[in-house]
Amino acid sequence: MGEEAILEADHLYHIYESKAEDGNVVALRGLHCRVRRGEAVAVVGPSGSGKSTLLKCLGGLMKPSSGSVRLAGNNMTRLTGKELVELRQQTVSFIFQEGNLLPNLSAIDNVAQPLRHQGVNPRQARSKAKQMLEDLSMGHRASALPALLSGGEQQRVAIARALITEPKLILADEPTGALDPVTSEHVLEIFRELHQKGKVAFLIVTHSREVADFADRVLELRDGRFVAQRGSDVDLSDLTEGERELFMDDLGTINIPPDIVVQMGGSGSYRIENLENGRLGLVNSDEEALDDRQVQLRLVDDCPACGFSYSDEESLLCPECGSSRPKVSA
Ligand SMILES: Nc1ncnc2c1ncn2[C@@H]1O[C@H](COP(=O)(O)OP(=O)(O)OP(=O)(O)O)[C@@H](O)[C@H]1O
Ligand SMILES: [Mg+2]
Repeated sequence: MGEEAILEADHLYHIYESKAEDGNVVALRGLHCRVRRGEAVAVVGPSGSGKSTLLKCLGGLMKPSSGSVRLAGNNMTRLTGKELVELRQQTVSFIFQEGNLLPNLSAIDNVAQPLRHQGVNPRQARSKAKQMLEDLSMGHRASALPALLSGGEQQRVAIARALITEPKLILADEPTGALDPVTSEHVLEIFRELHQKGKVAFLIVTHSREVADFADRVLELRDGRFVAQRGSDVDLSDLTEGERELFMDDLGTINIPPDIVVQMGGSGSYRIENLENGRLGLVNSDEEALDDRQVQLRLVDDCPACGFSYSDEESLLCPECGSSRPKVSA
């Protein structure tokens, strides 16, 4: 089976149930992914594509509707609550989009707390926390409560809190999102060192080109599936294309991956033919339009992930966030 994975997810589905008019939301649609020990993987994708949901399911903070997640060789869905907490404490740290800090603890106590949970004595925990905050240029704000810190400062405290336990895997949701370019570069420098010297694995959700460049591999999420992948060490089994599995919800909604839509002749009207048990034939109902569309597919003007406006005609990757550039019918 090749190298050992620190994180492995199979057939992951997540549905947010709702009684509201707009009904259930299918946030993850049967995706696979694998992060090797010491590997850094970036996840890019438009807002609402399921990135945060994926991270929460992978970190064992939310139970996926179906599918399995293995962390350091343990199937998380089979562990008891206590076993899961211990496994997480020993293996993984999180940096979320928000809500990383306990509001009633000072910055230094927030950073020291995960060590305290591991049984480290208070004096040692605080001294290591102080050092960690200083590394992130936050030493001078060590005794402040989170509410009195700026967004970027809170984010740095959250990063210090995530790093202090020396985890084997860091799951991070836009970790540099609230940081200015200089601070962001500094945080990336710390990540690079952990990755290269400490063999720490990363799964980072990001819109930033610099963060995506730091990763060994970039996965692109669209509507709850991985639709593209690139990097030095591409693992084709992570791609939905590998098996072409589609998921239909109670309302009959199916999402077809963008590359298949292009192969079928683009968006438009389709006629249902030969419907039988478990089979559905779709035929483009306007053959002429299909011919037209095949010649008239063009690259989008603006990146669907970050809104970057492509000025050149050629570029196939967004220079801003690294997403691939989809085609639409002209
Ligand atoms: N608690 C929830 N209840 C119902 N639907 C939810 C909930 N959280 C997220 N969703 C929906 O699930 C889908 C995926 O959301 P998610 O937060 O994973 O997206 P994201 O890729 O992280 O987006 P962003 O880039 O804006 O952070 C969206 O359609 C969202 O509206
Ligand atoms: Mg999110």
